[in-house]
Amino acid sequence: MPAIAVIGAQWGDEGKGKIVDLLAEKVKVVVRFSGGNNAGHTVINQFGEFGMHLVPSGIFHPDVTCIIGNGVVIDPAVLLGEIESLQQRGVSADNLLISDRAHLIMPYHILLDGLEEEARGSGAIGTTRRGVGPAFADKTSRMGIRVCDLLDRDIFRERLNSVLEYKNNILTKLYGAEPLAFEELYQTYCQYGERLAPFVSDTGVAIKESLDRGEWILLEGAQGTMLDLDFGTYPYVTSALSGGVSLGLGMSPSKIEQVIGVFKAYTTRVGSGPLPTELHDEYGNHIREKAHEYGTTTGRPRRCGWFDAVICRFTADVNGFTSAAITRFDILDDFASLKICTAYEVNGVTYTRPPACAALLAKCKPVYDELPGWQCDTSDIRRFEELPAQAQAYVRRLEELVGCPASIVSVGPGREQTIIVRPVP
Ligand code: GDP
Ligand code: IMO
Ligand code: MG
Repeated sequence: MPAIAVIGAQWGDEGKGKIVDLLAEKVKVVVRFSGGNNAGHTVINQFGEFGMHLVPSGIFHPDVTCIIGNGVVIDPAVLLGEIESLQQRGVSADNLLISDRAHLIMPYHILLDGLEEEARGSGAIGTTRRGVGPAFADKTSRMGIRVCDLLDRDIFRERLNSVLEYKNNILTKLYGAEPLAFEELYQTYCQYGERLAPFVSDTGVAIKESLDRGEWILLEGAQGTMLDLDFGTYPYVTSALSGGVSLGLGMSPSKIEQVIGVFKAYTTRVGSGPLPTELHDEYGNHIREKAHEYGTTTGRPRRCGWFDAVICRFTADVNGFTSAAITRFDILDDFASLKICTAYEVNGVTYTRPPACAALLAKCKPVYDELPGWQCDTSDIRRFEELPAQAQAYVRRLEELVGCPASIVSVGPGREQTIIVRPVP
């Protein structure tokens, strides 16, 4: 039976958390399948406002099983802190499961994330410095430590022993940093293991059983497709796949019936790398301040720009979006006119798909369409037909350019501030 994937269509922070929290009431399972605590998904509901980093945004629904899949890298300290803070605010984590195959972020990953960034100098990626990149690199180079390794003290000792000596050599000899003490790290992580153990299982089983019962499951993407290791603006990307859904949770791709692309009604990006429609003027500042566009994870100001239909058409193609959730629509309420980038030009060449090379993309000049704004408050509107004609026309133009119909238009951060254009599921 069917799964619905919710995938970021731009450079992250599109509002995936809100959309997952909203749709979670219709499903039995919500799964995070990629990324780590570089993600920050904001959820605002009857419990308050939450910045979710590792726990799936479905956790507020007690009858929904929330799974951290094998494709996620887990910083156990962050996860335990998140579970504790949810519990303190009256949200139970009894419905949380953690994959025994997920990789762990270790203290040396966090140190190396910072040291590698410093070493890149002016070419720094602007990572979140949470150790995510180094942890994924170790996974690929078969030097990772997994959740299952933590559950047995002897196995973990052996595994850590073989890795830490190598990592300490890099820390001390390459970067002149202090080495990490084995025993302290070992004891700390053994304690994490004991506290996490009740949540750990082969989570593929729960997913299969749910699908066999004919239940809907929701797959919560992290990051955005333009930060994807393959399809993003390499090397200014994260280390994981933002698509790659079935690999990150142990499920056949044939189960995915709907893929909802989450699009901000404009564009933002945190960190370095090309952003063709970036606004360095009062419009960009207006969006940032009105929308409080500051990172959920690092608090850094987000770079803001007009809607870029070139990248959105590309991410719709890459992911096979069956519909679009257009978020932050209300942020555009004040503008007298709105620009949408429909192509790029560089060196006399027109591009309608983003070039692979980030340096070339950085030179691309956007070609804009201009549409009239609606200049009225949309945040209390709940039916598409009640949106002003200019606002409807903006949505219709985005649908046309991106190549998939809108299912949701979000007009505020709250769960109820939502226009369902067509029901999902
Ligand atoms: P995510 O990482 O994709 O989950 O997105 P973030 O939570 O990092 O950033 C999205 C921000 O937009 C959060 O502060 C949300 O509360 C907020 N948000 C989501 N949808 C809307 C909307 O329709 N209107 C407004 N004004 N804010 C929204
Ligand atoms: P959500 O799930 C926005 C960006 C970082 C940096 C690059 C690499 O909330 O949309 P990393 O720490 O992953 O090695 O950093 O990726 N980045 C995000 N930007 N939202 C995110 O997640 C991000 N996760 C990573 O800013 O440019
Ligand atoms: Mg975010």
